[in-house]
Amino acid sequence: MTLPENSVLVEARNLPSHVGIIMDGNGRWAQQRGAPRVDGHREGSKAVRRIVRAARRLGLRALTLYAFSEQNWERPEGEIDALWTLLREFLMSERDELLDNKIRLNAIGNIGRLPGLVRAVLDPLRRETEEEKAEMTLTLALSYGGREEIAQAAQKLARDVAAGKMRPEDVNHESLRAQMPSLEFGDPDLIIRTGGERRISNFLLYGLAYAELYFADVLWPDFESTDLYAAVASYQARERRFGRVGKPAPLLPDAKPLRLVG
Ligand code: IPE
Ligand code: IPE
Ligand code: MG
Repeated sequence: MTLPENSVLVEARNLPSHVGIIMDGNGRWAQQRGAPRVDGHREGSKAVRRIVRAARRLGLRALTLYAFSEQNWERPEGEIDALWTLLREFLMSERDELLDNKIRLNAIGNIGRLPGLVRAVLDPLRRETEEEKAEMTLTLALSYGGREEIAQAAQKLARDVAAGKMRPEDVNHESLRAQMPSLEFGDPDLIIRTGGERRISNFLLYGLAYAELYFADVLWPDFESTDLYAAVASYQARERRFGRVGKPAPLLPDAKPLRLVG
């Protein structure tokens, strides 16, 4: 059997359950074409559509996309406005796709800071997709910061201690993580960053303790489903030790590969 040239072999077992993506490189994509940055964001939103479909097809349980950081508010107002307009359009156009494919929409971050026009689409869609039993949860990190999330969780526990609801010694990593919305669907197993930078930029800081990191040079608007499959294949080739010694069970010789072609 010959496989198409651009195919990537992904095993049907040992899939990451939760994948987080730092979608970076939209601005440079536009810059390379002498176009305004907004053009890169528009193309980037097409990549979001394709990668959500690919993730669902692959069978991921949770996908968290870093769409706007708390620090991105420092960007020029025109760019910020364009990003929210694109998000609103994305949500409106994806409604049926999410419902038909049993994808639950979730959002983390300082959602109260988002413009009303975005909230007006985001909030009902979150409620609507919550009702059905979802196969995959798509979490959009919007006005999100990992440090901010940790600080908020600490603040909540501090209040509970002050109110006598818990003892100081009950503040531990379990009670802290229980306050973190980004971990509702488990720690991220794999974090992908596109755009060539090797940094985390305040994404899922607490949860990524044992995540596998995958950096791709491809700019986000050019990220194809096969690039996602390549990242997952890389994850599957790694040995996660969580501080322990030793090897996991050897790969079953008869493990059926899933062939996915972008
Ligand atoms: C990522 O692309 C999208 C957001 C941060 C909203 P960038 O806009 O950061 O693109 P570069 O890094 O400038 O190329
Ligand atoms: C990270 O990208 C944030 C998102 C992808 C939403 P940035 O472009 O904001 O990060 P830095 O500035 O390169 O660290
Ligand atoms: Mg960037």
